[in-house]
Amino acid sequence: MRVGVLTGGGDCPGLNAVIRAVVRKGEGVYGHNLVGFRYGWRGVMECHTTDLTTANTRGILHRGGTILGSSRTNPYKTDVGVTQVLDTLERERIDALIPIGGEDTLGVAAKLQGDGVKLVGVPKTIDNDLSATDFTFGFNTAVQIATDALDRLHTTAESHDRVMVVEVMGRHAGWIATYAGLAGGADIILIPEEPFDIAEVCERIQHRHRRGANFSIVVVAEGAVPAAGTMATQSGGLDEFGHVRLGGIANTVAAEIEARTGFESRVTILGHVLRGGTPTAYDRVLATRFGIEAIDAVEDRDFGTMVALHGPDIVRVPIEEGVSELKTVDRALYDVATVFFG
Ligand code: F6P
Repeated sequence: MRVGVLTGGGDCPGLNAVIRAVVRKGEGVYGHNLVGFRYGWRGVMECHTTDLTTANTRGILHRGGTILGSSRTNPYKTDVGVTQVLDTLERERIDALIPIGGEDTLGVAAKLQGDGVKLVGVPKTIDNDLSATDFTFGFNTAVQIATDALDRLHTTAESHDRVMVVEVMGRHAGWIATYAGLAGGADIILIPEEPFDIAEVCERIQHRHRRGANFSIVVVAEGAVPAAGTMATQSGGLDEFGHVRLGGIANTVAAEIEARTGFESRVTILGHVLRGGTPTAYDRVLATRFGIEAIDAVEDRDFGTMVALHGPDIVRVPIEEGVSELKTVDRALYDVATVFFG
């Protein structure tokens, strides 16, 4: 078989580990030809290909980013996009496609499947917001990077009696904020799932300072929102999938805290640092297991599926299931974090 592979959406530590696993078993065990498409769906639309072989995918397990490149191109955004995709797959004689991506990339895959494309999806995102899988690779790495940053910021906060407001990615889910905040001993964690009241945040910080702690660490998810009518915010532009570009809420939160409490407040926006560099061991293993399951599913002709982690097992679920619902932080987990607030 000729099997196409692409990586779409934001890059994520572990993508190369998936590619390596797919190629190693696809070529080495099943004798398939592997074809890489550059820059996500854009590469499929433009027929921008590259050979993937065991030889040229050696030494990439520990490398962040994606050797295939990525984009947020949506073929359904233009009239000709889907026709271009179908033409390329025919011209390149692709028997099956393995798209590796998040909600948007796999959303396109689910639609293409309806147009007759044979594919097996692999979920990825640092945001961990796909409901059909317990975890996505990249999340563990992002949490570790954020936790390391919180440890470092603690020492400055303590030395200067400051409130450090630290913003992390995660889009409309607060998984990175909640996990990193728990692991890094945050004094407040603000997530999209729990709209916050800035007056209450300030009261908790003041309470903490009254008890003798002269510094505080506030973790803010980029998608955190104030409760209606409590604080004004700004919003950014939209990408090709209609998602608003987030980032910067920490600036507003820190300014409000400083104005209301008089405590010196500083901002650190971790942003794309959370997606960069080497994946953790956990993410390398999860990504490798996903890659192997994906190429096994192709070999089994089990198309229209997405690989997923359920408990300790790697399973296959219908791809529509993988993109149907946003997985948000459950209240029970957030309640654990709130014990340490203020
Ligand atoms: O989905 C992954 C993610 O890193 C989000 O956490 C973030 O909101 C978004 O991508 C940023 O996208 P871009 O790299 O296009 O700015």
